[in-house]
Amino acid sequence: MKKLHINLQDHSYDIIIKDNLIDELAQYVKEVYKNKKIYVITDSNVAPLYLTRVMKALENDYEVKSVVLPAGEESKSFAVYQEACEKLIDLNIRRNELLLALGGGVIGDLTGFIAATIYRGVPYIGVPTSLLAQMDSSIGGKTGIDFYNRKNIIGAFKQPLRVLIDPRTCDTLARDEFVNGMGELIKHGAIGNPKLLTLVENGVSKMTEEIVVESLKVKQAVVEIDEFDQKERMFLNFGHTFGHAIELKYGWKHGQAVANGMLMALKFGIDMGETNPKCYDVIYNILKNCGFPIEEYNYKDYLPDMAYDKKNLAGVIRFIFIKDFGTPELYEIEETKIKDLM
Ligand SMILES: NC(=O)c1ccc[n+]([C@@H]2O[C@H](COP(=O)([O-])OP(=O)(O)OC[C@H]3O[C@@H](n4cnc5c(N)ncnc54)[C@H](O)[C@@H]3O)[C@@H](O)[C@H]2O)c1
Ligand SMILES: [Zn+2]
Repeated sequence: MKKLHINLQDHSYDIIIKDNLIDELAQYVKEVYKNKKIYVITDSNVAPLYLTRVMKALENDYEVKSVVLPAGEESKSFAVYQEACEKLIDLNIRRNELLLALGGGVIGDLTGFIAATIYRGVPYIGVPTSLLAQMDSSIGGKTGIDFYNRKNIIGAFKQPLRVLIDPRTCDTLARDEFVNGMGELIKHGAIGNPKLLTLVENGVSKMTEEIVVESLKVKQAVVEIDEFDQKERMFLNFGHTFGHAIELKYGWKHGQAVANGMLMALKFGIDMGETNPKCYDVIYNILKNCGFPIEEYNYKDYLPDMAYDKKNLAGVIRFIFIKDFGTPELYEIEETKIKDLM
């Protein structure tokens, strides 16, 4: 068992990471929640795998109801938000009664948003079941839905009462979902935790408590300094500037795009004399061993879009580089210099 205490100005909470924790949920819920009822929100893929176990683990101590929503990013929508709220109200949910988010990042973001808004706020506990949700969405308090063809554009900051992680749920993830989560995890290693890189360097067939906790420590460190997403959280965008470009262009899954985006940012950093050249080969080999599809895109092909992006102010473009593993930096480059590079 591993435990992290997340220390925030407006609310602090624990993340507990333990193999097979799903079967012992009551014990960890009881420590933070004293009312009688729990509403489990989950999706149509996760329900057949884990809902019975979750209900069984809780039903001696609580009256448990469940709401099963369609699996997939499309559920982060007003339509499904409305459907879920209607079901909860039909089930007679009261203020101070607990929502439990059982699922990947989609269920986590949606349940968190419901918890932030229904009755102006009810408590919730996260039980993230995908690797991405375990190592990324369980810290930071960002919740929300997609709207008007834009991701995460409506939402709220809402901190959970607790997050309970059972790494064994990763055993049932489709391989591409597992690899997807590994993209952000390796990013955490690169920007903040060289030990994590050594834990995954030969590839990972089975998720462990130690890998999850070492990854979470990186996000914890930046979020505790920058709770409201003003500055240091930018480092989490390592690999994302190029990653988003190739995600859009080639339809990569996000984690796979970030993985390839990291390689592009590393090359760029090396060419600018900012990044230790050995970092490229290390990350390349880790990604290969972890089963990533790797395309060695040339970062220079993507610079024109960035140079002409109107979001950039005053002719300066910002990138996240690493100097070495564990030392990220914000690098600003003038538009004119970018044009010379192209
Ligand atoms: N709030 C945050 O800080 C944060 C951070 C990163 C990502 N996100 C959001 O998370 C979402 C992506 O998360 P995701 O990749 O978990 O997506 P997801 O919730 O759609 O899960 C991926 C797929 O795996 C299935 N699944 C989940 N757990 C499973 C398990 N244990 N076994 C078998 N199948 C399982 C799901 O049903 C789904 O089909 C995006 O909407 C993204 O915006 C939020
Ligand atoms: Zn990302």
